[in-house]
Amino acid sequence: MQANPKKIKQQFKKSIAKYSDNAIVQKLIAEKLSSYLSGKHFEYVLEIGAGSGILTDFISQRCDFTNYYANDLVEKSEMYLRKFIPDCKFFAGDFRKISFDGRKFNLVLSNAVFQWYENLDKIFEQCRHLLSDDGLLCFSTFSPDNFKEIRELTGLTLNYKTSDEIKSALCEYFEIINFEQWTQVVNFDNPLKILAHMKNTGVNSLAESNWGIKEVREFCGNYLEKFPNLSLTYSPITVLAKRK
Ligand SMILES: C[S@@+](CC[C@H](N)C(=O)[O-])C[C@H]1O[C@@H](n2cnc3c(N)ncnc32)[C@H](O)[C@@H]1O
Repeated sequence: MQANPKKIKQQFKKSIAKYSDNAIVQKLIAEKLSSYLSGKHFEYVLEIGAGSGILTDFISQRCDFTNYYANDLVEKSEMYLRKFIPDCKFFAGDFRKISFDGRKFNLVLSNAVFQWYENLDKIFEQCRHLLSDDGLLCFSTFSPDNFKEIRELTGLTLNYKTSDEIKSALCEYFEIINFEQWTQVVNFDNPLKILAHMKNTGVNSLAESNWGIKEVREFCGNYLEKFPNLSLTYSPITVLAKRK
């Protein structure tokens, strides 16, 4: 399915206060991204879809930078980011429509945002345009096995790109330095906790409408039957690439 930024914004607006405590896998991914950049200095950094600041926190501890620009659809994100970088410059809105003062950045970052969008080629072209010569793009997304249990039970999924598709879109504008894909399985005590986990990490925006009691009951029963160990599979991809 094609994601709708209005719906994504609504969901993340609701979940932002609970996001950092629930997004355990996104934290592991952010840690990996920051390990690619550890100890480096950047003059101008831009973070796309910074949310409650999980990646911002790691970057502020592990990298040195002079100017930090950050963006999210949700205005409240700014308040969270200022805890980590009090003087960051925040831009609310859809990153695909913002010029960020026409500035060129030495590093563009994004954790768990690009999976929502179909046209990766256009996103990479925009990222290239935002970067200075030799600038770095460091991002994560997810591959088609992400939330495979949810897809199998409900048919709901995003149009996740395969590693090969991502590499081939990237290669036009970037030289790939690091590219990793792995599987991270999280287990829960009961199916309701899986639904709560998804809600608290903003993933409710997969469904077109909110579920009633009947749909929730059906989902829980089917989950227990098909996946009795109550697993939820994440399949992250992390990338560091240099502008060509
Ligand atoms: C899964 S969260 C990740 C948050 C953060 N990057 C982290 O490290 O935890 C995705 C974030 O991307 C934001 N987002 C999604 N689409 C966006 C867009 N088109 N422009 C700006 N932000 C966007 C959402 O509002 C949300 O805060």
